[in-house]
Amino acid sequence: MKAQITLLPGDGIGPEVTDSARSVLDSVASKFGHEFAFDSQLIGGAAIDAEGDPLPSATITSCKNADAVFLGAVGGPKWSDPNTAVRPEQGLLRIRSVLGLYANIRPVKIYSELIETSPLKPEILEGVDMIVVRELTGGIYFGEKTRDAISASDLCTYTVAEVERIVRVAARLASGRQGKLCSVDKANVLETSRLWRDVTDRLMAAEYPEMKVETLLVDAAAMHLLSRPSEFDVIVTENMFGDILTDEASMLAGSLGMLPSASLGDSKVGLYEPIHGSAPDIAGRGLANPCASIASVALLLRHSLGLEQEATAVERAIARAIGAGARTADIASDGESRVSTSEMTAEIVRGLS
Ligand code: IPM
Ligand code: MG
Repeated sequence: MKAQITLLPGDGIGPEVTDSARSVLDSVASKFGHEFAFDSQLIGGAAIDAEGDPLPSATITSCKNADAVFLGAVGGPKWSDPNTAVRPEQGLLRIRSVLGLYANIRPVKIYSELIETSPLKPEILEGVDMIVVRELTGGIYFGEKTRDAISASDLCTYTVAEVERIVRVAARLASGRQGKLCSVDKANVLETSRLWRDVTDRLMAAEYPEMKVETLLVDAAAMHLLSRPSEFDVIVTENMFGDILTDEASMLAGSLGMLPSASLGDSKVGLYEPIHGSAPDIAGRGLANPCASIASVALLLRHSLGLEQEATAVERAIARAIGAGARTADIASDGESRVSTSEMTAEIVRGLS
């Protein structure tokens, strides 16, 4: 097949992991007989430096015309003065919103070889395999913000329609897995969470009466993720809770460098990105773990291009590289030898079949 893919390398380690994603896509194209055309565009701090805008209009146009978008990472100390009005992260939030990508799918899968790199006990990690579905275009991230000399505010709003559509995505995913859905909110305090819970209860009773539905308050969920992670199948939650809980969940997998994500909406254009940030402290040194980005490529092949066989091949190649002992610094145990970003990528590409 022919596909048009927009690459948004962004900042920090973003360009390095985007190079990894691109090599894997090139290799998939040549092995499986596809033609992928790439268009690299600016976003985040790099776009602020070049154009004074974290999301230039050429970037939006390219993304809208693409079959899929891959994003590395945005942000860094150079642009993080709290008093500047323009921030790299605004580019990411705007592209999610402009493309209508309300469903952020974050799978948490553990490679048995990496169990020792997690700070948690192996017996707790046994069998962990969950997907966190994070609402991505609503909530406090997108509400009105105010600031004066003595106070500040961020408005959190959700509509019934926004909750319904994300819960449907999560329930559909759960029905193809273990059939267990856990909805996370803070209904004991927040009105938006009370709406979230009412809508979820009503929708699940009407549309998925057979499904096992659990509801957790976000503070308890944070604890349960560490005490009984293997009991979760699909977790659905609002934007900010999903942001926080997935960084926590990444430690089950041993490193933030392992978790991919897919941001999807009602059209076929999806945005695929590692959940890790721009890691400015290690940028440009070949230390970044490309696994999260390469696993995001697998999601891109599956969800935007419908190439299931190719997606599985990429996932197997990651597992093979890990199984063969290839380790970037973040997943290496004491005494284990370490490979660079490009060596890890090459090892994964070698295992593609
Ligand atoms: C993520 C990131 C972003 C978010 C930042 C960079 C704006 O943390 O994708 O999880 O908060 O959504
Ligand atoms: Mg985050």
